Amino acid sequence: MPPKKITTGLMVLMLSATLPLAHGAPAQIITSPPPARRAVLIDMVREDCGSCHGSRLTGGLGPALTPQALKGKNPISLKDTILFGRPNTPMPPWNPFMSNAEAAWIVNRLMKGFPHAQ
Ligand code: HEC
Repeated sequence: MPPKKITTGLMVLMLSATLPLAHGAPAQIITSPPPARRAVLIDMVREDCGSCHGSRLTGGLGPALTPQALKGKNPISLKDTILFGRPNTPMPPWNPFMSNAEAAWIVNRLMKGFPHAQ
């Protein structure tokens, strides 16, 4: 595939990820990672994120990541916080370790109640 096509495809993807719907709800397509990768991500959130956000994600050095705590927050900005971290805070960027779609899935699941390791 020539690079131009990839760039165009990426731009369409980025646009569709940020394009707001008529009612103000952000448009995001959430796809569940395959089971083996999902298990890795669940362990990462429970262990690595849990070291700051609490093993039950109820808060520690970092704020709680429970459905109650995240209620009403913008899922796209939460996803970007995960991918890029928050400058001048201990929140590190995770984009070397997960894709945009995987971060969106994590936010979606945090907002619903995060699954436990199987
Ligand atoms: C080294 C500690 C640390 C680790 C590890 C860490 N975080 Fe954070 N996180 C923080 C801190 C501190 C904040 C608050 C930053 C601020 O002051 O705005 C934060 C903020 C956030 C927020 C924004 C919450 C909100 O209510 O706005 C999300 C979402 C988040 N982290 C998710 C994660 C995820 C998912 C992981 C693992 C992939 C992770 N964090 C790992 C320290 C950490």
